[in-house]
Amino acid sequence: MFNLFKNIIFVLFISVYSANANEVVNVYTSRHYESDKDLYKEFEDITGIKVNYISGKGKALFERIKSEGKNSPADVFITVDASNLWKVESEGYFQEIKSKKIRKSLDKRFIGPNSKWVGLAKRYRIIVHNQNVKAEELEGINYEDLSGEKWKQRIVIRSSSNIYNQSLIASMIHHNGVSYMKKWLPQFKGNFARKPQGNDRAQVMAVANGEGDIAIVNSYYLGIMLSGSSGKKQLDAAKKVKVVFPNQKNRGVHVNISGAGILKHSKNYDNAVKFIEFLLEEKVQKHIVNNTYEYPIVDGVDPHPLIKELGTNIVEDRIKVKRLGKLNKRAVKLMDTSGWR
Ligand SMILES: [Fe+2]
Repeated sequence: MFNLFKNIIFVLFISVYSANANEVVNVYTSRHYESDKDLYKEFEDITGIKVNYISGKGKALFERIKSEGKNSPADVFITVDASNLWKVESEGYFQEIKSKKIRKSLDKRFIGPNSKWVGLAKRYRIIVHNQNVKAEELEGINYEDLSGEKWKQRIVIRSSSNIYNQSLIASMIHHNGVSYMKKWLPQFKGNFARKPQGNDRAQVMAVANGEGDIAIVNSYYLGIMLSGSSGKKQLDAAKKVKVVFPNQKNRGVHVNISGAGILKHSKNYDNAVKFIEFLLEEKVQKHIVNNTYEYPIVDGVDPHPLIKELGTNIVEDRIKVKRLGKLNKRAVKLMDTSGWR
């Protein structure tokens, strides 16, 4: 009798174990952090679900998903900027993420249309400046003020083909309307100190060396540069500049996300849901923001100390981030008309 019981337990154990041994989730991610491997390992240890992942540029991964079609092994797609997520969704490649847990832990403004994508971390688009900018010039500064005469030849910013800038302009269209932005954009562009070039970090460098006095960049780049992981030149530049959060007396700083969705042709839907739920757990959020210098998207988690030092109690723009995607085409058109290349 005892032996029979033992055998049943053994068979049960084997069947549970082998079920999990076959469980996988396939992730295509535009995040390329060494540290992500630790996260995947932890998910595997907790759930028994193996994480297979491919990392690459967001655009290239989406092209791959499209060309693989129904045969795509991808279950989860992780990429940056709400506008990119919106594009994947609007082309029909995501399906609804059904999870009470996610709906409970995430603010609605970070969830895409029909729950087809969700934010995983936040980033602010902030102003950096050098010592040529006086305190009174920055007092209560808004993005809108940057079209003013006093900023002539003082602003550096990357090109209008960059999605971060497109989303910022989309948010400004949302708040100010099209006709306001039609006037504002050429004036803003008229204040550029140089032809738009380089990435966000290059703008920080340009402000540090005086090519411009003010730049608009994503918050986490300051963290990366200040951490020293990208070399002494970048560390010195980041130390030389100061940060200001715009629109603090009104709607708040522009907020964007990195995020994820479950693909339409996913063959491991339940595992994909579990995986995204896992990424929103407090301790995982802590791990993410400590490595990416983004802001956590769930409450109760602190950003990395280097990011916390930039400022606390920041007022955030409460716009639903899906609006950024919806207004993207309009933003691109207005930017193009203004001559911002
Ligand atoms: Fe970035």
